[in-house]
Amino acid sequence: MKTQRSLRSVRFLIPLGCISITLLTVLLRAGSQSEGHRARVADLGEPSLAVVAQRWFRMGVGIHDGLPQRLEDHALLLRHFRVVTPENSLKPAAVQPRENQWFFDLPDAFVAFAERHRLQVVGHCLVWAKDDRTPSWFYPEGDSPADRQLLLQRMSNHIRTVVGRYRGRITEWDVVNEALDDGSEWLRPSGWSRLCQEEFIAGAFRWAHQADPNALLIYNDYHNELPAKREKCLRLLRQLREQGVPVHAVGLQGHYEIDQVPFEELERTFEAIRALGLKAVISELDIDMIPRSRWWAEGGRYREELSRYDPYRDGLPAELLERQAQQYARLFRLFRRHADIIERVSFWNLHDGQSWLNSFPWRRVNHPLLFDRAGRPKPAFYAVVEVLQEP
Ligand code: GLA
Repeated sequence: MKTQRSLRSVRFLIPLGCISITLLTVLLRAGSQSEGHRARVADLGEPSLAVVAQRWFRMGVGIHDGLPQRLEDHALLLRHFRVVTPENSLKPAAVQPRENQWFFDLPDAFVAFAERHRLQVVGHCLVWAKDDRTPSWFYPEGDSPADRQLLLQRMSNHIRTVVGRYRGRITEWDVVNEALDDGSEWLRPSGWSRLCQEEFIAGAFRWAHQADPNALLIYNDYHNELPAKREKCLRLLRQLREQGVPVHAVGLQGHYEIDQVPFEELERTFEAIRALGLKAVISELDIDMIPRSRWWAEGGRYREELSRYDPYRDGLPAELLERQAQQYARLFRLFRRHADIIERVSFWNLHDGQSWLNSFPWRRVNHPLLFDRAGRPKPAFYAVVEVLQEP
């Protein structure tokens, strides 16, 4: 009797349940159509990357400087990330393109937006030690000791002004970016190294620390997990530490290419960073699906051919989506193992449609991130979430 009654009520409840689920779906769909992308992303109900990562490290993203106005980005960003790096507007060429002409409107609005939404901000970057990334007014004409002093003084004025302006609000800085040489030199040849050797690096960290003693100060570079550049990077850090220079973390940019992610070298790099008593940051992560190294090979002889190469205009084949997922998963498993020294993992750009790798080093439709062009999570997203949730 009792069983019969409950069976009857189940029979009655099932259609009721179906009706309410359908109703709910219709309502959600209607909402998502009226609010566009924002609601669609929120409706999917996928886990938040930042939340599943929080027991290991903070999740961040390098993002468009016009973020406050880009309403279509807000839902995806706020759901998955807790740290933002403005892509360009704090670089020296943007902030002080001419001596004492300062442009703070964009970063001011960016930082205010971040504060309203409880996001942390990474300042990127105070010195970009490359000639084509250093506004030419920084460099004095000659190379006398007085010229050297002048360059250091311009740098210190720049750093003090920028870091001081955001003291306590921008909590970490890429102090020096890309100072190491890719070839046989130690430091990259530039006006900086020519006039000051490594002294400009020590100075940059000291001035940044003076301007904000609580900020996390990072030396940032690419390929610094590969043996040749890693040795140079470790030598630099060791030297800075011996001199009592306040450097706190090494930024590994992490611009990888599919099937060439340097897992073993990364492992060694984390061990070396730990041995130095420093922290690591993955500062600009992505996995290029259309490998780019050939662009620079053999004096650039493949460039013409490559510039017409655009194989995934209509999307990434399922097999490649899966391979990307596996490689991201392996990477995050590695990051998890070294979570004791990894402060933060930041992707470079929010979704595939916004990646710099759609235009660098040639124009092509690329798919390097965890979210597709509509902001939908890709297999790589679910693979990373699974790794971060594993017990
Ligand atoms: C480097 C820089 C970043 C950015 C990327 C590509 O890694 O550090 O600021 O310019 O290249 O966009």
